This record gives sequence, structure tokens and C-alpha cells, in this order.
Amino acid sequence: MCGIVGYIGSRTAYPIIIKGLQRLEYRGYDSAGIAINDNEIKVYKCKGKVRDLELLTKQKPIGGTVGMGHTRWATHGAPNDCNAHPHRSMHGKFVIIHNGIIENYDHLKKQLAKKGYTFESETDTEVLANLIENFYLDKKVDAETAVKLALTKVIGAYGLVVMCADEPDKLIGCRKGSPLVLGIGEGEYFLASDSTPIIEYTDKMVYLNDEEVVVVTREGIKLTNLKDEIQKLVVTQVDANIDNIDKGQFEHFMLKEIHEQPTSIYDTFRGRISLDKRHIHLGGIADVMPRLAQAKRIIIVACGTSYHAGLVGEYLFEEFARISVEVEYASEFRYRNPIITPDDVIIAISQSGETADTLAAIRMAKQQGALILGICNVAGSSIPRETHAGIYTHAGIEIGVASTKAFTAQVVALTMMAFSLAKKRNMISDERYAALINGLVDVPSKIEEILLNEKAIKAIATEYKNATNAIYLGRGYLYPVALEGALKLKEISYIHAEGYPAAEMKHGPIALIDQNMPVFVLATKDKYYEKVVNNIQEVKARNGKVIAIVSEGDDTIAHMADQVIEVPDCDEALMPLLAVVPLQIISYYIAVMRGCNVDQPRNLAKSVTVE
Ligand code: AGP
Ligand code: GLU
Repeated sequence: MCGIVGYIGSRTAYPIIIKGLQRLEYRGYDSAGIAINDNEIKVYKCKGKVRDLELLTKQKPIGGTVGMGHTRWATHGAPNDCNAHPHRSMHGKFVIIHNGIIENYDHLKKQLAKKGYTFESETDTEVLANLIENFYLDKKVDAETAVKLALTKVIGAYGLVVMCADEPDKLIGCRKGSPLVLGIGEGEYFLASDSTPIIEYTDKMVYLNDEEVVVVTREGIKLTNLKDEIQKLVVTQVDANIDNIDKGQFEHFMLKEIHEQPTSIYDTFRGRISLDKRHIHLGGIADVMPRLAQAKRIIIVACGTSYHAGLVGEYLFEEFARISVEVEYASEFRYRNPIITPDDVIIAISQSGETADTLAAIRMAKQQGALILGICNVAGSSIPRETHAGIYTHAGIEIGVASTKAFTAQVVALTMMAFSLAKKRNMISDERYAALINGLVDVPSKIEEILLNEKAIKAIATEYKNATNAIYLGRGYLYPVALEGALKLKEISYIHAEGYPAAEMKHGPIALIDQNMPVFVLATKDKYYEKVVNNIQEVKARNGKVIAIVSEGDDTIAHMADQVIEVPDCDEALMPLLAVVPLQIISYYIAVMRGCNVDQPRNLAKSVTVE
């Protein structure tokens, strides 16, 4: 999704904004642009990457200490120089950058055209720029008021930064549905889509709420809503560890984040598991645990990888807490008019906390009286701010578009919730509870062991880098891991890949098996093991290539599969945390060998803040 950066202070804005846009590249984009007030508002923009924008501006003397930058992920109008942001209004009074969609832009455009407005681009954003200017000139109001008047006419989502030619020492930021963060520095201020462009300058963030408008000058900030009512300034101190947003010794963020999983998993349960490893305390949901324990049904809503984590949660909650669970794609759930009652608990899972469909799903469920919980990785993001309670995964900033450490952290959070609920509902003994907790605490070291095997896993990836299709199979807890493994491969290597419950092969997919079809099978020792061995034999009988993830020391499958990757043994309920890691590594190396942009795969965004 697009990236927004704004700066006002005493330093030259250009390098700060360019670096900020580079920090946001992971969000995915197709064009870039910048506006700097240097006696006049100068705008430079182009299709392509931030480095293309730097080439475009290299010879230009760009001074100025207030400005903004944008990386565009096109929704209205092809990616080209003209449609790139910033957009200037027709009479030149306003320059804006925008993340989101103005759904009623066509109607507004027609109204403005009747007033003589013309348009250079195909974007919805340029319509908003002219709408603001029209109010400014017609009503003879100040820039802030013109922005508010215009936004009351807008239907849709926006994260917006506005500059006005007549009020040069000012940035106006506002949001609805798309994120916007204000960074408070020493005599300087920052606006951005998330904290990554800001944290090297300050750890003090204000996450704007929907329909809030912040006016920023060097003298200070004013936070109001569209009705001009002063809003409370809530300053969040974030983890300003700059290392989180650098690749360090790794070639890509994705590989770094795969390797961070022992730490991110430990950080997610640290402080939540008692030192004697006999008790889990989830402070973020402590107040609602009684209601959660009485729930008739848990509905998990999420998208993509987070949806796959939710599927693991379904197996965990139903096995241990004996509570009925449904897992829903948020995009379907929000529109199919589901039956929701106050006895339901909704758990929204989202790494970014900004996914538009997931946010809309919980808003709908909240209106129908359900208890809304969140499992998110970004403090202060939109989804956690709209839940009744929740758990933050402490995975640290995840830059790679393909989610890895966030997935395992989400599964850890769900695991702790399920074990904790099971104990509260007297579904498991103290001994079993302690054994499960010990198993969870051992996971980081077991992942370290898997990571030591990276070279061998990379060698296997080499065998399949030219595949055109792939199938992933798993049963029980490992069925969601099969789906996740397939998503990892397809989203970064562009190889078509599908995940199935292993038993489903006979219901169609086995027709696809031939000597060119790699089949990745999750085949660790659990109650399905013998059945999965049969599935492997069915694939081999049709000359399929089998790459099996097996338990350490397994010498049965080693004699039938083409390749095996061993993982340490653990309770089957914890195996998703281990078995997914080799699949992450295989996908990573296949994508690298295919020359793909691993951290910023084509067409993808890190946070899908539009429908
Ligand atoms: C996963 O690798 C993808 N980046 C994507 O499927 C992602 O999981 C999905 O867009 C949901 O994002 P969220 O967790 O931030 O809500
Ligand atoms: N809808 C706007 C456009 O297409 C903004 C897209 C974005 O969020 O980057 O230009």
C-alpha cells in the first residue's frame, strides 16, 4: 500500500523525506513524488521507484524545511508520471498526497467540472485537491477549514497530507480508514503512514483516529475532528530500535525476519508465562477472560497469512478449550450479513492492524454486540484501537511483504490464549498445562536448530526453482501450514502453488500429479502420521516429487520421499511453529534464485489498507 511522509522543522526537508520514502518502500508501490515549499511549493514526481525520483531531482536545488513525499499504489489511473502524487489543485493553491480511495470521486469530479475545474490526471486524489481549493476560494476560509469542508463531502478512505501555497509553514494531516501517524520531535514534526520513517528521529507518536485533523506548524500542533472539536492528544512511546528497520548482515528483510523468529517468539511469550512455567497471564485480555471463557462461539476474522494463523487457532481452541470456532476471510465476513450475537467473541488477527477488510469486519461485529479482541503486531494501529481488548505480538517491525515472524508470533498468541482458556474452563490438568507451557518455551531453541540446517534446505530449494506449479499437503494442525507454505511460495516466487488437506488429494488434486509436480508434505509424527505416509505413497505412485517435512530421526519417509527436511519433535499442537520455518526458507531461496524482488513482490503491498 502507498506510503506517506511529511516533515516540518528547521532541517532541509528533502533528504529526510526521501529517506522516509525509502523506509516505506516495503509497503509496495508503483510511483513516487515529493513536494517541498522552497519559496513556492515545488512538485517532482514520476512512475517508478524512489531512486527514479532521486534521479529526477538530482540536479534541482531543493531547499525548504517543510514538505511531503508519497509512494503510490495505483487504484484510479495507471501508474504513470501524471497520476503520481503529489497532486496540485487547478489554481495552484493546494498540493496533496493521499493514501486510500475516494469512492464518490466521479460525482465530485462532475460537480467541479461544472464549476470550470479541469483535471490533468485520472486519479480520485486530484478531485479532492480541487474540492479543497473550491471550498477555499468560494467560502474564503483558511486552509484547515477548506480541508474539513471538503472531507465532509468525501465518501471513502484517506490518509492525507495537505500543503497550502498561502500558508507555507504548515502541514495538514487527516485520516479515515487509512493510517496516519504524527511524530513529535525536538522542534520538528513528522507525518507518515507508519512509524518506520520516523523512529530514527523520535519515539513519540500520535496515531490519528478516523476523522481527526492535525495542523502542524513549527510552533506546535492542533488536533481536532471534522466538526472542529479539539481532540485529546494521545502520545505513544514506540520501540525506536533502528536495527529493526535495517537488514543487518542479511540480503533481504524476509531472511532477517525468518531468522528473528526464535527472538520474536520468545518476546511474544516473555512476561506472559510465569517463571515456573506453570502459568500463562495475558494482561491484554485479563478483564474479558470471564466472558471469553463463557463464549458460545469464537469467530476469527483475518486475511492472508493472518487467516492461516487463525486456522491454527481453530484447532487449538476446539481441542483444548472446547469452544466452537469459525475462521472467516474478513472480506467475505463483512459483506455476507452473518448472524452475530452478544455471545460471540470475534478475534481479529492482523500484523499491520490496518487491513481494511479486517477493520470493517470488526466494526460490523461490534455494532451487533459481540466481544471484539485483536491479535496485532503494530501498537496503536487502527484495529487494536477499535477492539475491546487484545494481545500484541511482540514480533518487532516486519518489513518483508511476505509475513514470516508475524505469523509464528500470531500462532504463539493463539496458543497461549487456547491453553489459558483450557485451564480456566478446567479442560486440562495442571500437569498437561505445565507440559504444554514447557513445550512452548522450548520452541525458540528448536527453531534455532532448524535454522542451522538452512544450507541443506537451500540446496533442496535449488531443485525446484524452475517449477511452474507446486502442491502443499498437511493434516490437522499442519493443514493451515500447508496453506501458508503455498502462499509464501506463490507470493514471492510467482510459482502457482496450492495447499490442501492431505486427504483431499483423492478428490481432484491428485489428477495434477506427474513428474513435474513438487509436492511439499507436512509429515511429522502425530495422530495422522500413517495416513500421511499413505498420501506420500499415492503421490510417488504417480511419479510426483515429494519433499517431506519430517520429525527428527524419521527413517520411514526418508526411503520414499525425494527429499526430507527434519525438524525437532514437539507436541503436535506446537508443530505449526516449527514446520512452517523450512517452508519459509524454501520459498525465500526459490524466489531469490528466480531473481524476484523478495521483500517487495510485484503487485503486493505490506498492508492492504484499501478494499
Ligand atoms: C502474507 O505474506 C501477505 N503479506 C498477506 O497475505 C497478509 O498476511 C495479509 O494482507 C494480511 O495482512 P495483515 O496481517 O497486516 O492484516
Ligand atoms: N487512490 C489514489 C490513487 O490511485 C491513492 C492510491 C494509494 O493509496 O496510493 O492515486
